[in-house]
Amino acid sequence: MSDAISLPPTVPPHGTGPAPLIDPFQRAISYLRISVTDRCDLRCAYCMSETMQFLPKRDLLSLEELDRLCGVFIARGVRKLRITGGEPLVRRDIMHLFRRLSRHLDSGALKELTLTTNGTQLARFAPELASLGVKRINVSLDTLDAAKFKDITRRGDLPVVLGGIEAARAAGMQVKINAVALRDVNGDEIPDMIAWAHGLGMDMTLIEVMPLGEIEADRTDQFLPLSVVRQRLESRYTLTNLPDRTGGPARYVRVEETGGRLGFITPLTHNFCESCNRVRLTCTGQLYLCLGQEDSADLRAVLRATGDDAVLARAVEEAISRKPKGHDFVIARQRPAAVPRHMSVTGG
Ligand code: 5AD
Ligand code: SF4
Repeated sequence: MSDAISLPPTVPPHGTGPAPLIDPFQRAISYLRISVTDRCDLRCAYCMSETMQFLPKRDLLSLEELDRLCGVFIARGVRKLRITGGEPLVRRDIMHLFRRLSRHLDSGALKELTLTTNGTQLARFAPELASLGVKRINVSLDTLDAAKFKDITRRGDLPVVLGGIEAARAAGMQVKINAVALRDVNGDEIPDMIAWAHGLGMDMTLIEVMPLGEIEADRTDQFLPLSVVRQRLESRYTLTNLPDRTGGPARYVRVEETGGRLGFITPLTHNFCESCNRVRLTCTGQLYLCLGQEDSADLRAVLRATGDDAVLARAVEEAISRKPKGHDFVIARQRPAAVPRHMSVTGG
């Protein structure tokens, strides 16, 4: 038997595949967020205008185009895809895209396929998403008060979302709750929301309102700095800083009383750009190198001009070579939104 030991390695040694995507600041870009639609069935007051004008459908990338582009990113070292919107689950036939993308999970080329959703359609889609390998999802939920929920979202039905969360948990998916901290709206409720989420074994992340896209309200009035939230939380909870970094902007603490994990996303009070590993594709195929900057690359034009994926890959590389160091968000009165795009276009 001794002569059977030296089998050749089945995985090619490092350096034989295409080079990973590295930006000018030596950050490896391994994470792509994709907005598959700018549409949403809700109208959260900090996100959208009540009379939001949505893009004409012909401007959107088709599901086939999205699949092709994702394939190019994955071939160049992207290991994590997050499908966002708008509300991704309101896009017609969206499960077709998940079915296609799941083959990259099966092959091992993709490590994680995730979703950010408002939860309204989850009861319907959770079982299939789970069966396709979607293991973790983020559900955006800013309050557990049904009247407040209707107010914030201008139309939403809280029990529907809670039912969606239940369906996702029942299907075996790990759910994280994302809540935007809103002054005079949900500030007082945050400790109870944490107790609820952690009680069900869900992580929770708090987010500061960002100046993205024009809305009716003044975001200065909505902005609640998480430094203040954290201080208030510390009168009820013991928060222990955790070293956990998901490559993303969140900083995590352990809430000792609940045993759960709480994240803080603080684009305004603490800039986290130095470790950014991500780029964002809009529903019209514009690749944004940073959530808070204007520079982008029109990948739709390239997609539609050529069937050659090598050309597409070069366009992606060229864009990444322009990734800026970071954003410079400020929330101040009489200032227009820092970037004109709404979060629903670029992807949350
Ligand atoms: N600032 C911060 N978060 C926002 N979201 C939408 N618009 C904004 C904004 N201007 C959040 C949603 C959801 C995620 C996709 O983005 O609440 O959690
Ligand atoms: Fe829709 Fe999310 Fe924007 Fe609310 S925050 S309107 S759920 S995209």
